[in-house]
Amino acid sequence: MRKLPVWLGGAIASLVFTTSAYAACDVNKPGYELTGDEAEAVYDCLKSDLQAGYQKGSKRWIPEAFVKDYPGWTKASAFPAAPGFHGGRFLVTYVNSIGADEYLKYKPENVSIPAGTQIAKESFAIDDDGKVTKGPLFLMEKVAAGKSPKTDDWYYMMVAPNGSPQAVNVFTACSECHLENFGEQGGLGYPVEDARIK
Ligand code: HEC
Repeated sequence: MRKLPVWLGGAIASLVFTTSAYAACDVNKPGYELTGDEAEAVYDCLKSDLQAGYQKGSKRWIPEAFVKDYPGWTKASAFPAAPGFHGGRFLVTYVNSIGADEYLKYKPENVSIPAGTQIAKESFAIDDDGKVTKGPLFLMEKVAAGKSPKTDDWYYMMVAPNGSPQAVNVFTACSECHLENFGEQGGLGYPVEDARIK
């Protein structure tokens, strides 16, 4: 193969860098081959930018404090894991003080999550070439009994990586999967077993 002049190589390298803002966090193997430690290293690299993105702009119908405060809550994920749901993304879960005790028991049944519990789940993706992209912030809030019987009194919300709230049909896009698959455990999916902080 013909060798590129040094100056052109440099120009291509900087072009790649500007079009892929997270080149700094990219890895040299497919996302599905990453160990927990390697996924955690990507998260460490990405975290401040990911969280700053979620914070940007008006949250409209989503409580501002929910998105602002969650990084200070109890973390339920020891490292980001990609269970194949939520678009195969790597997930990191935080729970507020009202729900943390009960959530972190990861009970398979008889779950009694108190009203006022809020859960935030960050996400990012690593494709088969090791390229990192930011994913949405997924939110769940347990509301007062009887307020939303169809969703077992869970409110579902979603924020894009650029901070804009995403209007989704929460029944078909969120609640059906949670209730059909995890109805027994209070509608909670929990991080995969290895990735749980106990
Ligand atoms: C196809 C099934 C499916 C759909 C659809 C789905 N989820 Fe989940 N969700 C899961 C699974 C599985 C977990 C646990 C996996 C993990 O966190 O590693 C989970 C976990 C969560 C959590 C952390 C609390 C918990 O259950 O442990 C939040 C918050 C969440 N989802 C929000 C949402 C929102 C908001 C939507 C809709 C925009 C949604 N989910 C759609 C399967 C789904």
